[in-house]
Amino acid sequence: MGAASVSDLITRYGGNLPRYTSYPTAASFTEAVGPAQAEGWLRALPAEQPLSLYFHVPFCDELCRFCGCNTSVMRRDDGRQAYGDLLREELRRVVALIGSQRRVRHVQFGGGTPSTLPESALRQIMRSVRAMFHVEPNAECSMELDPRHVPQNYPALLGELGFTRISLGVQDLNEKVQEACGRHQSFEQTEACVSSVRAAGVSGINIDLIYGLPYQTEESVAETVRQIASLRPDRLAVFGYAHVPWKQKRQRLIPEASLPGPMERLAQRACMDVVLQKHGYVPVGLDHYALPDDALVKATSEGTLRRNFQGYTTDSADALIGMGASAISMLPGGYTQNITAVAPYVRALADSDHLPVARGVARTADDHLRGKVIERLMCDMGVDLAQMEAGLDVFTPELAELAPFVQDGLVTVTGAKVQMTEKGRPFVRNVAALFDTHRKTLAQASVGRPDQQRFSRAI
Ligand SMILES: C[S@@+](CC[C@H](N)C(=O)[O-])C[C@H]1O[C@@H](n2cnc3c(N)ncnc32)[C@H](O)[C@@H]1O
Repeated sequence: MGAASVSDLITRYGGNLPRYTSYPTAASFTEAVGPAQAEGWLRALPAEQPLSLYFHVPFCDELCRFCGCNTSVMRRDDGRQAYGDLLREELRRVVALIGSQRRVRHVQFGGGTPSTLPESALRQIMRSVRAMFHVEPNAECSMELDPRHVPQNYPALLGELGFTRISLGVQDLNEKVQEACGRHQSFEQTEACVSSVRAAGVSGINIDLIYGLPYQTEESVAETVRQIASLRPDRLAVFGYAHVPWKQKRQRLIPEASLPGPMERLAQRACMDVVLQKHGYVPVGLDHYALPDDALVKATSEGTLRRNFQGYTTDSADALIGMGASAISMLPGGYTQNITAVAPYVRALADSDHLPVARGVARTADDHLRGKVIERLMCDMGVDLAQMEAGLDVFTPELAELAPFVQDGLVTVTGAKVQMTEKGRPFVRNVAALFDTHRKTLAQASVGRPDQQRFSRAI
């Protein structure tokens, strides 16, 4: 790796960093933002602006030890149905603020495992969406599924309701790794899930894989990738395992000694990259891959790829409205997040007529500017600072801070053009962090307070 050795690079760039699915990041959210601001920002949305909708369902049929999300098991069908009713109630309150028949381009269901919603609940939600919004004819409608727990009627239901994409968690196919993660999922289960949704007419398939999981090796991750590539999903996400036991207690069941170190993680990532490219996949952003004719690849080459809380997307809407416990909304005025735990979320909707917003952050003009720089870096692996309306002077300190990255062969700087090299791709979060002024304040606040650690490893 150029002049600096891999271990050198890891020592210097291997800290904990945000994944920059937003700027400011969720670590900057505070209770200073609540329902009143959220409602004001929604009312201020320009009438002609297209929107995207996100429904968060925090329930799973089983909990996986590695999972960093806020999830719980809800066995009772009436509880699942009641949650679906609340999603519709929240949607109704949103529409009362923004008006009906707004254009919608993306409707996403994430979690958790949204297929825990009973069939009747999903039908009602989709009926409400289509009645209250103008869903564009080519809109993308997607849902996350757990291949181990796909209700029998669900593939046909998704096809009938006009879903265009599903996203499946696989992570790793090795038995020892699966045992340590508490997630047993055979290749055949994944294959059956892919076939059944394709047969139902849902053609977009995303598969999530993870490196850095307990007991993974370069050989084991390469074997997982080979098998999964044989299913020809059009998109793959290859995430680095985020070990955040201070935040997610269930991860404490994973012995630290079983976790690959930073060198091994980088090597695993590189191995997966080689195998995926050999199977015809094109790298997209930090951690995605897609087949060459996929819209994500086209957007990458045209410079129109976007990044939001759902990761890399072709969704160009500047407003993403989230419904459900812990759901985040991205609005021009700022980001807001709903109450995280289900019971208080339910109570908030029952006790008041307002939105169940718990926290958030307003976006200043400087946040918009820096957010744009960070988004282009995360999406295009480069940014032309001269294209930013604020002018170059604002970024003089950051351009100076790039010098070590240039020396290490991770970045090139030509005039005002900052470009990650291919070897620098895994370090793009480090470069994005240079433009993140909120990070410094947060870092100072958590000095000497390991309980305040907020992010996972960058590498
Ligand atoms: C919200 S989960 C939903 C998965 C789906 N319910 C399932 O069971 O397949 C979406 C993805 O987040 C990723 N993920 C969850 N926890 C993670 C962690 N600690 N580190 C990295 N990725 C993680 C996994 O790849 C997972 O497939």
